Amino acid sequence: MQKINAVITSVGGYVPEFRLTNAVLETLVDTNDEWIKSRTGIEERRILKGEGLATSDMGVPAVLEICKKRGIDPMEIDCMIVATVTPDMVFPSTANLICDKIGAKNAWGFDLSAACSGFLFGLTTAASFIESGRYKKVVVVGADKMSSIVDYSDRTTCIIFGDGAGAVLLEPTTEDIGVKDSILRSDGSGKDFLHMKAGGSLKPASIETVTAKEHFIFQDGQPVFKAAVKGMADTAFELLERNSLTGDDIAWLVPHQANKRIIDATANRINLSHEKVMLNIQKYGNTTAGTIPLCLWDWEKQLHKGDKLVLAAFGGGFTWGATLITWGYDSN
Ligand code: COA
Repeated sequence: MQKINAVITSVGGYVPEFRLTNAVLETLVDTNDEWIKSRTGIEERRILKGEGLATSDMGVPAVLEICKKRGIDPMEIDCMIVATVTPDMVFPSTANLICDKIGAKNAWGFDLSAACSGFLFGLTTAASFIESGRYKKVVVVGADKMSSIVDYSDRTTCIIFGDGAGAVLLEPTTEDIGVKDSILRSDGSGKDFLHMKAGGSLKPASIETVTAKEHFIFQDGQPVFKAAVKGMADTAFELLERNSLTGDDIAWLVPHQANKRIIDATANRINLSHEKVMLNIQKYGNTTAGTIPLCLWDWEKQLHKGDKLVLAAFGGGFTWGATLITWGYDSN
């Protein structure tokens, strides 16, 4: 029997209209445009405004775009994986809510919590489902409403994060294209440097936790920065090496958009010229699980069948990794 590969056949995305610029952040905290741009590369981020709107409301248009472009009905989706750390509710899963909102009544699904590496973890999981032959259409969504867990009086985190969602459809093929290889890692001892203190079973929500602002992101930036540079660069390098590839063979690096300096270090490590690096951090900031599919969404028209892409991420947990894919279609 011929080997079944899992290939991305459609990409969708959604970013809210409201733009939170560095100039506006200057009015909220003691910061300035020059510092933010030079230390992170970010100029503005999108924020989901409006009562009753949540992560699923960004996932829905992203998934509907996938279906429209591919000409499929949501009823054809077999499985939906939603990578997020800002689910609409603790339960039911955001995957369930998206399926309900779009009428994907034949799908099962679940949320995957791996912070900024969530999309890569989801993509690798979805690819395995397809490669096994069990499922034919698996959707992976990376979506986060980071503004729901950001403290806009903390200048070390509020400058970084934004809201957004991206999604891809994976389908089987016997062609030599698709998701080729992944190196994924996690290390729970990294929790000390990036976490949310309360709201879980360890420290349920209480008046005290709200007063102490423990439902916001806590980040100790420097150790996260160092681990991110090492984790993303090392796994991207190792992935190329074990597939006998060099930077010259790679059409695009698709990095998690946490900090432009982390992205530059990863590109340098695999010897990749900077024109081959997808970069949209300046306009969206760090959308956590959304960054990588949003890059694919922004660059889709420039991708060609056979292009080799390295996707690389690092996130809270710690979680990190790199995935090699051969792009499956020309879009016009
Ligand atoms: N505006 C102005 N000054 C700021 C600032 C801001 N928004 N935030 C911090 N500073 C100050 C600090 O207080 C510090 O001042 P001091 O020297 O007087 O103490 C100085 O700038 C340097 O702070 P530092 O934390 O060393 O800055 P940095 O260069 O490490 O940049 C981050 C901070 C958060 C941008 C950086 O550490 C980072 O990107 N970390 C990883 C983030 C990440 O990837 N997170 C998500 C996981 S995917």
